[in-house]
Amino acid sequence: MRVRTRPIEGQKPGTSGLRKKTKVFMSESYLENFVQSVFDATGGAEGRTYVLGGDGRCFNDRAVQVILKMAAANGARAVIVGQGGLLSTPAASHLIRLNRADGGIILSASHNPGGLEGDFGIKFNTASGGPASEALTEAIFARTKTIEAYLIADEPDVEIDRIGRQQIGGMEISVVDPVADYAVLMEGLFDFPKIRAMFAGGFRMRFDAMCAVTGPYAREILENRLGAAPGTVVNGTPLPDFGGMHPDPNPTWAHDLMDRMFADDAPDFGAASDGDGDRNMVVGSGIYVAPSDSLAVLVANAHLAPGYRAGLKGVARSMPTSAAADRVAAALGIAAHETPTGWKFFGNLLDAGRVTLCGEESFGAGSDHVREKDGLWAVLLWLNILAERRESVKEIMESHWRRFGRNYYSRHDYEALPAEVAAGVMDGLRARLAGLPGCVVEGMTIASADDFAYADPVDGSVSRGQGLRVVFADGSRLVLRLSGTGTEGATIRLYLERYVAGPGGLDAEVQEALAPVIRAAETLAGIRTQTGRAGPDVVT
Ligand code: G1P
Ligand code: ZN
Repeated sequence: MRVRTRPIEGQKPGTSGLRKKTKVFMSESYLENFVQSVFDATGGAEGRTYVLGGDGRCFNDRAVQVILKMAAANGARAVIVGQGGLLSTPAASHLIRLNRADGGIILSASHNPGGLEGDFGIKFNTASGGPASEALTEAIFARTKTIEAYLIADEPDVEIDRIGRQQIGGMEISVVDPVADYAVLMEGLFDFPKIRAMFAGGFRMRFDAMCAVTGPYAREILENRLGAAPGTVVNGTPLPDFGGMHPDPNPTWAHDLMDRMFADDAPDFGAASDGDGDRNMVVGSGIYVAPSDSLAVLVANAHLAPGYRAGLKGVARSMPTSAAADRVAAALGIAAHETPTGWKFFGNLLDAGRVTLCGEESFGAGSDHVREKDGLWAVLLWLNILAERRESVKEIMESHWRRFGRNYYSRHDYEALPAEVAAGVMDGLRARLAGLPGCVVEGMTIASADDFAYADPVDGSVSRGQGLRVVFADGSRLVLRLSGTGTEGATIRLYLERYVAGPGGLDAEVQEALAPVIRAAETLAGIRTQTGRAGPDVVT
């Protein structure tokens, strides 16, 4: 059936797909227009095979039905869909690769709250399993501006709760267990018997799935296959509104886990993941592991896991992520790449075999096993390292800093600002960048200042305007950029970093260690003065 439609404004994918309020996605032909634009901008769905699934948030079930019927009407050959419409983002990436599908549609707004009043999102991944490139998302956006009609099969709803094969209008639908293939992949990368023995020896863990998609994955892998005590996984049932939780694994939103990990009887290891399972937060008994540090520790120790025993080809981190991983890469003699924010920029490096591990300061880490960041993967690599080293998280962190020095790091988010106020802050600093080198602020000399541009070493494409950075002579730095994932107003992210080589000064309180850089940021960018805010909304 061909349904006439008209372009809808603002269907521009951001850092990670198109995200809007759930009600916006539910409005007439909003989803349909975008999905048809994806098919049109990628050469049509005719004869193609797709993977489809999402994080189970409100509207996931309806959206799956619509997309299945649209794929059928557009002539797709087959769609592989997770049972109940569920797939974590890394599991979807894996299924695309495993089945050599032509692409995948992932329904998620990641760590943004869900529910009718929350957010919904949709993202297209290509045959590599990774998020569409900037050029492709631009093409999709361009199509949303000219679309006149979409195709949808006039069929009853598909039974997505039953595993097995069905047909609609000549298209095959395979409903698959969302966890099984992913669990097999993890078993191939990590030393499950060794981790199992650690749990059998009394190792205690708490995994907070935050009522989002990772629950079934974590239960199957941690409790069933690795023998972690029943109850290790909490908030393990995916709910359409995430039980009212904000499924963003950071100390602010995973505060219950933080409280327990800092209590007297804390478990040995704590972890949390986000709405769609690609993010992770790692906490030891009495110690929080900042994501940039976590990446550095994973790079330094990955060879302890069977999947990485041969060593790493290279490592990549997003520009605002601390340089802690670079120091490890230098010691290992491997390349360290600095990319713009967003997982899509790692894709070419991974495909070209130039890097094995990647990470972002925003609680994302992953490797070349899929083309998305992978929360549970990071947790399992940590477990494998803990099982091999037989040290606590705290001991591992302390010895890491003694060896490499410590990159004190924090991100300050100023959320839901009026767009013009946020733009004013950015424009103000951008205009001053050229004159900053040589200036002294808070006793620190500015070595360089620029608006980050990235030239992809694989395909030569250039991405400009990726964040304002001011680097000081002692290696400290501050970075300012606007979020590309929010759905309300604008969010300014201020990233702060200061390096201490040691041996002294390695155990300072993070915000105190960063105090001069925080003051320098205010002097240079005036975020508080211009926004009238007393301080950031979220500090990670
Ligand atoms: C945020 C993070 C970024 C991450 C993205 C998707 O994007 O900062 O690192 O890749 O979510 O999870 P932002 O809102 O900053 O554009
Ligand atoms: Zn996510």
